[in-house]
Amino acid sequence: MIPLTLAEIVSATGGALHDGDPAAMVTGPVVVDSRLAEPGSLFVAIKGEHTDGHGHASAAVGSGATAVLAARPLGVPAVVVQDPVAGLARLARAVLDRLGDVTVVGVTGSSGKTSTKDLMAAVLETAGPTVSAVGSFNNEIGVPLTVLAADTDTRHLVVEMGARGRGHISYLCEIAPPGIGVVLNVGAAHAGEFGSREATAVAKRELVESLQTDGVAVLNADDPLVLAMAPATAGRVVTFGAAPAADVRAEGIEVDDQGRAAFDLLTPDGAARVRLRLHGPHHVSNALAAAAVAHVLDVPVEQVAQALGEATPRSRWRMEVVERDDGVTVVNDAYNANPESVRAALETVAAMSGGRRSWAVLGEMRELGAAAATEHAKVGTLAVRLGLSRVVAVGDGARGISDAARETAVPGTTYLGEEPVFVSDVDAALTLLRAQVRPGDVVLVKASRAAGLERVAQGLLEAGAPA
Ligand SMILES: Nc1ncnc2c1ncn2[C@@H]1O[C@H](COP(=O)(O)OP(=O)(O)OP(=O)(O)O)[C@@H](O)[C@H]1O
Ligand SMILES: [Mg+2]
Repeated sequence: MIPLTLAEIVSATGGALHDGDPAAMVTGPVVVDSRLAEPGSLFVAIKGEHTDGHGHASAAVGSGATAVLAARPLGVPAVVVQDPVAGLARLARAVLDRLGDVTVVGVTGSSGKTSTKDLMAAVLETAGPTVSAVGSFNNEIGVPLTVLAADTDTRHLVVEMGARGRGHISYLCEIAPPGIGVVLNVGAAHAGEFGSREATAVAKRELVESLQTDGVAVLNADDPLVLAMAPATAGRVVTFGAAPAADVRAEGIEVDDQGRAAFDLLTPDGAARVRLRLHGPHHVSNALAAAAVAHVLDVPVEQVAQALGEATPRSRWRMEVVERDDGVTVVNDAYNANPESVRAALETVAAMSGGRRSWAVLGEMRELGAAAATEHAKVGTLAVRLGLSRVVAVGDGARGISDAARETAVPGTTYLGEEPVFVSDVDAALTLLRAQVRPGDVVLVKASRAAGLERVAQGLLEAGAPA
C-alpha cells in the first residue's frame, strides 16, 4: 500500500484521532484479522457475527499495528468513525484516487469469480505490476482490502465483486470504479436470495452499468443473460465464449485424461494454442475471460497463451487435485457448490476417471431457495448418467442427491456403478471412504462451504500419507 499518516487517514475517512500521533505512519498491510497485524499495519475493528474486532485492538497494536480504525476510542491509537466498514471503503477510494495509471478490472458472475480473477492476475502480471487478492475477497470488506494492497507502481488491480442483492455491486464499484467490467455467468447461485436468475442478472448488471464511456464491458457470449447486458453499458463491449460471434473465442477444445482442457485461443490480434494446467473444462470459459481482458489491455496473444498455460491454482479448495501415494486421486472442490459448479466438477471427474473407479462425495448446495429439491435431484441423476461409480451424499440437505441417483441407477440399465449411499455427516463419510476407497480410485469432494466437506478431503489425504 502507499504509506499514509494517521492525519491522512483521518481526512480520508472523516474520522477523529484518539490517543495517537497524527504524523505516525501506516505502511500496511491493512488487516481485519488482528493475527495478521504487522509493524506499520492499520487494524480495522469490525463487529462480525461471532467476534467483535474491537476486542482484539490491543493485540493488533501489540503486534506492531500503528493504529486501529474503530467505532469507539479503545485506549490505543485509533481513528474513530461511526462505521469502520464504511470508513474502510472511504479510505480505499481515497487511496485509489491517489494512485497513478492503474486499470481496475472488476469480475463478477455466479461461478468462477475467484478462479478467473486468479487467471487474470497470472496473465496481467506478465504485462505489468498487478495486485489481486488470494482467495475470495469479494465483498464490502474484501474489495477495499484488495484496493489498499495497491501502490503507485500498480498497473492492474483485479477485483472480485460478489453480489447477494441489489445495490451491492454498485457499492463495490464506488470503492473501486472499474475501467473493465467482466461478467462471467448468471447461474442458480444465491437464486434463493434474489428470487430468480433474472433478478440475479439485474444485480450483476450493475457492474457494466457503472462503466464510463471509456470503459469496457467484457461479457460472456455463451450466456444469454450476460450477453443481454450489452446495451446497459456506456462503454465498449468485448465478448468471449465458444460462440462463433464472440470477439475472443475458443476452438478445437480437447480435454485430457486429467480433465485439463486445451484450445485454440482466437482473438482479433491473432491466435495461439492454450494448454491449461487447471482441471475442468469450465476453465476454458474463465481463461477466455482473462484473455479478453488481456486483449483489451493489448497483451500479445502468445504471451497470454503462455501465461494461461502456466497458471496453477492460487486459491484453495477449488478443484485441488492431489494424488495419494497409493494412486488414489482426491479432487478437493469443497470450497463451495452450486448447480453449475457441481456439474463442472462431475464432468471433470468423469473425464479423469477413464477406466478408474470414481466417487462423487457430495454435500448440500445451499441458498437455492425453492429450486433446492429439483437441483439436488438433477445432480444425483447427472452423476449416474456420467457413469461415476459411486455417489455418496453427505448430510440431510444432500439426501435428494442420493435418492435421485438411486432412482437413476436402477439395476438392468447401462449403469455399472455401485449403490448410491446416504451418510449423515462428515465423520460417517470418512469412515465409509476409509473402508472402501481402493488404490487407483478418483474421489471428488464437493459441497457448499457450510457443509465442511474439506474435512473429508483432508481426512482422505491423511489416510494416504506414508506411514
Ligand atoms: N466457469 C465456471 N462454471 C462453472 N463452475 C465453475 C466455473 N469456474 C469455476 N467453477 C467452479 O465453481 C466453484 C467456485 O469457484 P470460484 O471460487 O472460482 O467461484 P466464485 O464465483 O469466486 O465463488 P464465490 O461466490 O464463493 O466467491 C469451484 O467449484 C469451481 O471449480
Ligand atoms: Mg470467490
